[in-house]
Amino acid sequence: MNILYGKKSWLVLFFLNISGVTCFISYNNTGKANRGSNQSSDVFLNSVQLLQKYNYPTEEHVIITKDGYKLRSFRIPRKGPPVMLVHGIGDTSDCWLVLGPKHSLAYLLADAGFDVWLFNARGNRYSNENPRRISQKQYWDFSYEEIGILDLPATIDHILNITRRPKLTYIGFSQGTTVFFVMCSMLAEYNSLIDHAILLAPVAWIKHIKFPLINFFSRNLENLTLYAENKKVYEVFPYNYKFSKFHATVCRVNSPLRLLCELEYYIQFGVKKLTNLLTDRLPVITSHIPAGSSAKVFFHFIQGHARKRFQRYDYGIEKNKKVYASLSPPEYNVSLISVPMTLVVSEIDWFCDKDDVDTLKSKLKTVDKVINIKESVQFTHLEFVYGSRVNTVINEPVINILENLRNK
Ligand SMILES: *[C@@H]1O[C@H](CO)[C@@H](O)[C@H](O)[C@H]1NC(C)=O
Ligand SMILES: *[C@@H]1O[C@H](CO)[C@@H](O)[C@H](O)[C@H]1NC(C)=O
Ligand SMILES: *[C@@H]1O[C@H](CO)[C@@H](O)[C@H](O)[C@H]1NC(C)=O
Ligand SMILES: *[C@@H]1O[C@H](CO)[C@@H](O)[C@H](O)[C@H]1NC(C)=O
Ligand SMILES: *[C@@H]1O[C@H](CO)[C@@H](O)[C@H](O)[C@H]1NC(C)=O
Repeated sequence: MNILYGKKSWLVLFFLNISGVTCFISYNNTGKANRGSNQSSDVFLNSVQLLQKYNYPTEEHVIITKDGYKLRSFRIPRKGPPVMLVHGIGDTSDCWLVLGPKHSLAYLLADAGFDVWLFNARGNRYSNENPRRISQKQYWDFSYEEIGILDLPATIDHILNITRRPKLTYIGFSQGTTVFFVMCSMLAEYNSLIDHAILLAPVAWIKHIKFPLINFFSRNLENLTLYAENKKVYEVFPYNYKFSKFHATVCRVNSPLRLLCELEYYIQFGVKKLTNLLTDRLPVITSHIPAGSSAKVFFHFIQGHARKRFQRYDYGIEKNKKVYASLSPPEYNVSLISVPMTLVVSEIDWFCDKDDVDTLKSKLKTVDKVINIKESVQFTHLEFVYGSRVNTVINEPVINILENLRNK
C-alpha cells in the first residue's frame, strides 16, 4: 500500500500514540497553516508534516514484514539513485529532518537529486501499530536482531521493487549501523543489494561504551530483566506528548530551566557546550525524542557490554540450548559482510569508542574508507544528526561519497 501526498492532496491521516492511547488525528493538507510561522512550531510536526511544510513532495509507504509487523517509511521521490536512511535507538525518521532544510541530511540529499527513503523500525511512533492484535508481551518481544533481519530486508525489498533498481545506498546512524551489521552477517543475499554503506558512529562491540550507569546495568542485568518481566515493562521510552512539550520548553534558548537541558545532554552524552547541538532547533529536536523502542533492545545492548561480544540475544543457558543449540549465543560474524563501507567515527564519542571500533575494523573485510573526527573537534554522539557543525563534518563528506558513486 502506498499513500501519496501530492501538493494538492489535503488530507493526511496519522496515528499518534499518546500515553498508550492511540488517537486518530486528521490533518488538513500541505502544512499551509504553518507557513510564515516561526520554527518552534515544528515542535509537534511529524515527518510528513515537516516535509510538507518545507515543500518537499512526500510519500508514505506502509510495509508489512514477514512476521506481520507494520512499518512506515517516508520517501522524498527524486529521479536519482535510492538512498535509505536508518535512525538510531529510540529515534525515528524525524532525526533526518528536525534541523530543517539547511542542515538535515534528508533534505540535502533530495536537493542533490537522490531518491530519499526514511526507514522506521518496529515499535517507534510511526511503526507501532499491531495489525495482528498479538499481546503486548508478544508484540514487544524483539531486539535489534529482528529490526536487522526482518524490518530492514522488508524495507529494502520494497524500495528496490518500487524504484526498479538493483541496489540502493545505505546510511545508518548508531543503532542504524548495528542492525546493518546484523542483517549483512546473517542474510548473505542482502549484501548484493547495497552498493555502499555509510555508517555514522558504528556500534557493534561496546565493551568501552561510556553511558552513565552502564556498569550498574551490566552487573544487575539478570535482575533487571526479571524485574521488567514481572512488572510487564515491554515498551520503553514511548513518544509522549506531555513529556515532549516539557522537553521542548526546558530546551528553549531563553528558558529559565535550560540548565536541566544542559545537564541532560552533558550527563547522558558528554555534550560540553549545548551550542554544539543546533541551538535554535533544540526544542524541535527534543520534542521528537524519545519515540519508543522495546526493553529487549536495551537488554540486548547491555548484554553486549557485559559479555564484551557482539552476539545474538542471550536467553540464559536453558533457552539458549533450545534457540541456538549452544550454551551461549553465537556471535554475529561481521567478517561475512561484503558491502563496501565508509565508517565515520569521532574520537570522543562515548557510544562508539575508538578501541571498540578497532575491534570492529579488524574483522570487517570491505571497509573502503574511515573518516576519523579528531578529539580536538569535540564531536559527540548526537552531533552526527543534531549537531550545529553537521554540514561540514558529516553532510558534505556524505554527499560527496554519494555523488562519486552516482558518477561512477
Ligand atoms: C482543507 O484545506 C482546504 C484548502 O487547502 C480547504 O478548502 C478545506 O475546506 C480544508 N478542510 C478542512 C476539513 O479544514
Ligand atoms: C513561535 O511559536 C511558538 C509556538 O507556536 C509561540 O509560542 C511563540 O510565541 C512564537 N514566537 C514568535 C516570536 O512568534
Ligand atoms: C512490487 O510492486 C508492485 C507495484 O509496483 C506490487 O504490485 C507488487 O506486489 C510488489 N511486489 C513485492 C514483492 O513487493
Ligand atoms: C538479584 O536480587 C537479589 C535480591 O532481590 C539478590 O539477592 C541477588 O544477589 C541479585 N542478583 C544479582 C546478580 O545481582
Ligand atoms: C566467520 O566466517 C568466516 C568466513 O566464513 C569463518 O572463517 C570464521 O570462522 C567465522 N567466524 C565465526 C566466529 O564464526
